[in-house]
Amino acid sequence: MKNGSDVIVRPARNVRGSVSLPGDKSISHRYAMLAGIAEGPSRIENYSTGADCASTLACMRTLGVAWERNKDSGNAIEVQGRGLALAPPAAALDCGNSGSTMRMLSGIVAGQKFPSEMVGDESLSRRPMERVITPLSAMGAHIASQGGKPPLRITGAALKAIDYTMPVASAQVKSCLLFAGLFADGETRITEPLRTRDHGEVALRAFGVKLDRRSSGQGNEIIIRGGQRLRGIEARIPGDLSSAAFFLCAAALFPGSQLTVPGLLMNPTRARLLDVLMQIGLRISVTQLDEIHGELVGSLQVEGAGLKGATIAGADSAALIDEIPVLAAIAPYTEQGIEVRDARELRVKESDRIAAVAANLRLMGAQVEEREDGLKIPGGQALHGAELDSFGDHRIAMAFAVAALRARGETVIHGADSAAISYPAFFQTLEAVTER
Ligand code: S3P
Repeated sequence: MKNGSDVIVRPARNVRGSVSLPGDKSISHRYAMLAGIAEGPSRIENYSTGADCASTLACMRTLGVAWERNKDSGNAIEVQGRGLALAPPAAALDCGNSGSTMRMLSGIVAGQKFPSEMVGDESLSRRPMERVITPLSAMGAHIASQGGKPPLRITGAALKAIDYTMPVASAQVKSCLLFAGLFADGETRITEPLRTRDHGEVALRAFGVKLDRRSSGQGNEIIIRGGQRLRGIEARIPGDLSSAAFFLCAAALFPGSQLTVPGLLMNPTRARLLDVLMQIGLRISVTQLDEIHGELVGSLQVEGAGLKGATIAGADSAALIDEIPVLAAIAPYTEQGIEVRDARELRVKESDRIAAVAANLRLMGAQVEEREDGLKIPGGQALHGAELDSFGDHRIAMAFAVAALRARGETVIHGADSAAISYPAFFQTLEAVTER
């Protein structure tokens, strides 16, 4: 039930049915950017329906890339690639709420022969950008910012290759630097301390770029040679695993749940969520495993059962960074609770997600221990409905719609329209698979 941007969620008895997810957000951003700098046309089906990926497409248009979107034909986009040289923008590149757009696209505009300005909304304007400014400056770009935050004014340059170890494990930064490496003279080497999602590497290969990878005690090193040309592709983007997380966690709340999720992204650098959910007690089987342009896709059958607990720490916290809010939101309903450590990055996402989760759980009557780098949420708690805030953050809005399904009484989520950042149809789809 919707009233402006408030959504009321009533308790449920079960989750049953089938959910087909729009294309993965991380892959959609990367395909749109790479299709723009490829030679020849690309056709990409099941492009993300979220506002963030629309921001990437809008920026590409401002940079002279022609594209069309056909919502009737499976959300396909057709992009006319311009090759590596984009057109000087007549206006600022508006990244909206999307950190992925600003961070990854900065690697491409840094290699152009013209200056660009990148701007974002209020939330994005608070987010740290020095993680891309420092290495791109080392490659020769000139970047002015507001004390390391947007807007960014990037003066492109002939870039030089660097050998760079990222201080923060971030797939966005890794992709940014690999994209910049295309414009650099020589071999760019990037080492990540922890393995993060590899969609940038997989997508570059799909567009015909050669990369090398080496794993050592120092981490994971990726090497890219500059000057390589990309060729357009025809692709279908697998369903978004981080959006699926909300339905999987909703199913986990009820022993009688039965859910099917066809065509879902199964990339091993993202699929840690499935291991954790199985460890907690959800029964998951995967069929029809396939590979499209290097990305694994499969169909899930899910059955609810009792919920144990879990500890998420170390490399798991990086691997599950987008799913921690919803895992934390269902934690009180588990037997042993959930503890999250080493997840300080959550504080600089679209909202401070550690504080947002703690505040909303408390409003629902839960006991929560909030820590600088995580949360400890005891299990065996009964929650009640409450008036909650999304904090303008899509993943907080969706996480608490899930928590509300097993609470006593109704829950109101203010600012629920922020779900459209990644998944505009979320509330309708949740309603369609919820039994009361
Ligand atoms: C993303 C990486 C993650 C994630 C974000 C999408 C990506 O951010 O939180 O939603 O597509 O590479 P970081 O790379 O900053 O951890």
